[in-house]
Amino acid sequence: MQNNFKRILVTSALPYANGHIHLGHLAGCYIPSDIYTRYQRLQHRDVIHICGSDEHGVAITISADKEKTSPKAIVDKYHEANKETFKKFGIYFDNYSRTSLPIHHETAKEFFLDLLHKGFLLPKEQEQFYDGEANMFLPDRYVEGICPNCNYDKARGDQCDNCGKYYDQLDLKEPKSLITGKTPVVKKTKHWYFTLGSFQKKLEEYVALHSKDWKDNVLQQTRSWLKEGLQDRAVTRDLRWGIPVPIDGVEGKVMYVWFDAVLGYISSTKEWALQQGKPDKWKEYWCDTTTRYIAFLGKDNIVFHTIVFPAELMAKTGYVLPDNVPANEFLNLEGGKFSKSRNNAIYVKDILERYPVDIFRYTLATNLPETKDSDFYWKDFQAKNNNELADIYGNFINRTVTFVAKNFGNKVPVRGILNDRDKDILAYVQTAPQRIGDLIEQFKFRDATMEMMNVARAANKYFNDSEPWKTFKSAPEQCGTTLNICLNIVRSLAVLFSPVVPFSSDKIWKLLNQSDTIGNEPWLKAGEPQLPEGLALGQSEILFTKIEDETIEKELGLLGVSAEIKADEKAAANKYIPLKALITYDDFAKIDFRTAKIVEAEAVPKSKKLLKLQIDLGFEKRQIVAGIAEKITPEQLIGKTIIVVANLAPAKLMGVESNGMLLATSADGENFALLTSSKDVETGIGIK
Ligand code: MF3
Ligand code: ZN
Repeated sequence: MQNNFKRILVTSALPYANGHIHLGHLAGCYIPSDIYTRYQRLQHRDVIHICGSDEHGVAITISADKEKTSPKAIVDKYHEANKETFKKFGIYFDNYSRTSLPIHHETAKEFFLDLLHKGFLLPKEQEQFYDGEANMFLPDRYVEGICPNCNYDKARGDQCDNCGKYYDQLDLKEPKSLITGKTPVVKKTKHWYFTLGSFQKKLEEYVALHSKDWKDNVLQQTRSWLKEGLQDRAVTRDLRWGIPVPIDGVEGKVMYVWFDAVLGYISSTKEWALQQGKPDKWKEYWCDTTTRYIAFLGKDNIVFHTIVFPAELMAKTGYVLPDNVPANEFLNLEGGKFSKSRNNAIYVKDILERYPVDIFRYTLATNLPETKDSDFYWKDFQAKNNNELADIYGNFINRTVTFVAKNFGNKVPVRGILNDRDKDILAYVQTAPQRIGDLIEQFKFRDATMEMMNVARAANKYFNDSEPWKTFKSAPEQCGTTLNICLNIVRSLAVLFSPVVPFSSDKIWKLLNQSDTIGNEPWLKAGEPQLPEGLALGQSEILFTKIEDETIEKELGLLGVSAEIKADEKAAANKYIPLKALITYDDFAKIDFRTAKIVEAEAVPKSKKLLKLQIDLGFEKRQIVAGIAEKITPEQLIGKTIIVVANLAPAKLMGVESNGMLLATSADGENFALLTSSKDVETGIGIK
């Protein structure tokens, strides 16, 4: 990892301007990159966040064919739409450019010619699929067939969406032209090949340098490419839409979209520099070794950023390489894949009107597919909003400001002598910026967000334990101290939460009558109490309101899935009861789980549900009663090693004493299962 850096360059994958941004895009790339850059700005580091529309390639021309319009009309429409969506969703870019701009075409041409002259682009005659009826070659997605690797039957000409493999299109089985549906013929054509193979060694060294700081998913994909041995790759296509191959006498050929798209990061930075009135400033970010460059993207883009792009930069020389490529996996929707065609997608533009953006930002941030695919469930969205944003964060702010408005004339009370509880909470909040910052620096955005909520949770507990409603009469000075501390924590929370829920933080900032903008706050000082005593506060408003069940039912209905699938989904949604509120490790550690062997089991007389079990804990024998008689027979239980909570207070069930509780799935019917040990272990040993 780059240590002595002076500035940070952050890029986010340029989305194709052929469709709307959906939640999958946000979770894969833009929420993490936005949290990261907002945080770095609060650290007062020199950071820019660069993005734009990817407007070339077959993805665009096929969309144009489908919508019966021109590629230009397609990219104009979606560029504007996506730019607007990002803005409304609070994803802040220093520049959001387009690869169709002259500045980009110039940049790509410069790279192409430089590589050509250095001998890294070599012309080669090669066979390609050709549609005789449509009179055109069929690059990339223009042909579909069966994947030579996994036999998926909708594999594209250049890559399989199912297994992720890239291959030569001639290897595709049963190829069909996307234009006429006919089987294409094979015809010779000339293309320029990037000599990726000649960078094998340098790329291996580059990746080895990052074996400790890159994420596993990124290393794995990259290493598997390197292991297969890098092949030279064609970087031109027989198409009219794109950047024309800048060689005299070459007609009807453009650069391959991936060759130019990644260079869009550079041209977008150039455009930004021009807007700053400092046309050369882009070089500081791209051509100075004191830059730390972080490239955010989703998992289908990994190798283009860890192999192809770095090789292009190495070939050109003088450019920085990505220092990290924190790619996420995919976000699924209600247990299925996001899919435009099956209408199984949630487009950001559609939900902007329906909910405050911050709920989505928070829900996604706590559920990012950082190490493996994750799922978006509407029920989960509701639970996160109701149980966390509203019940914990919002509640703490609300009870604090209403108390101050009612009892302290809406002014910051005086802080008197601190008791131990006051000191503890202040110390805890003071260290929070460091804790959260460390997680963000490691690209652990889920954990960072959960840590933010932990601060709010601790603050709520502090409010409860301090009982200001009592001390207001019995010890008014202490009450003032409590509320002074609570208000200061509200301020701290506004800063700490602002990378994730910036709109809510701005509201809190106004409420606290803070003059400077929250963005100028120094992150590491965010945990310190800074509100002057006597400061008058603004009008409070409820920050997060609860979402009703009917609203969620409606959303599930809107996902255009068939009635049958919907029923399944409903069952699935019910199966997943909302997550309970978070507990601390200390809470968890109070529970004494043990292995135990069932030695006897019998029905409890006159009860349909209860079984009486004698269990052996090694150091003692006990009786427990469990409500599982309808799901399992006594015979099936005897001899099993199960898991019990051994320190549950004794209770009587239908007059029978129970000393502990066994663990089993809470689901009904066929999903019932006892938690047992995966191998024979001693009875009575602890579990953690
Ligand atoms: N347009 C590509 C996609 O949506 C991503 C391109 S990232 C780039 O998958 F920067 F390289 F362009
Ligand atoms: Zn495949």
